[in-house]
Amino acid sequence: MEPIVITIDGPAGAGKTTISRRLSDLLSYRYVDTGALYRGVALCAEKACVDLTNEKELSSFLQSLTLSLVRDAAGGLTLVADGEDITSLIRTPAMSMAASKVAALPLVRAWLLEVQRQLGREKAVVFEGRDMGTVVFPEADVKFFLTADISVRARRRYAELPENSGQSLEDVLEDMKKRDDQDAGRDLAPLVAASDAIYIDASAFSIDEVLGQMMVHIRAKSGAG
Ligand code: DC
Repeated sequence: MEPIVITIDGPAGAGKTTISRRLSDLLSYRYVDTGALYRGVALCAEKACVDLTNEKELSSFLQSLTLSLVRDAAGGLTLVADGEDITSLIRTPAMSMAASKVAALPLVRAWLLEVQRQLGREKAVVFEGRDMGTVVFPEADVKFFLTADISVRARRRYAELPENSGQSLEDVLEDMKKRDDQDAGRDLAPLVAASDAIYIDASAFSIDEVLGQMMVHIRAKSGAG
């Protein structure tokens, strides 16, 4: 089977991370959670007190930043920023909003475009994000757009939160709506399905059913079985 690039775009909570991870295991591919990279930029910029409205300051901050994703022993991804493991700090509701905000900045998107393309050079990767099939890898071999009803997505995100998060299901739903609007409404690389993406609404499907559907397309494209 020829190594290919697979992209999975879609809104928060649609199941992209679980699916990407399972697909990468099935195919012995790497997987790259590009949302984690945006979260990493947001966290590090906040820690360094970068004025996001000051392009010069933001640009020199980005020039000195090194982000990498490493697969951990349990199969998850560890996000390392300048040698420090920041994985446990990027999944808070505040960081979700902060990531969505930095994601609208042209300098940040341009910087991450290079980081992401570098990661795709050797193929055999599953990329998940918002603009993987439209902007970062328009030539990707198989593109999916994975979505689900917002109430399904909010319930899933709510179930993932620690008990002491202080967020109600309604809070999660509100944040999700706001983030969907921000991600889909921005000028640069908005969240949208590529015209050649396979659209999957996972609202009524299990993870295994979605994986089954995806594998049919992947096998057809990669010439395997
Ligand atoms: O997938 P996530 O929820 O971890 O992503 C966090 C934010 O990063 C999301 O609200 C929008 C942004 N993002 C993006 O603009 N482009 C990507 N390819 C991935 C994420």
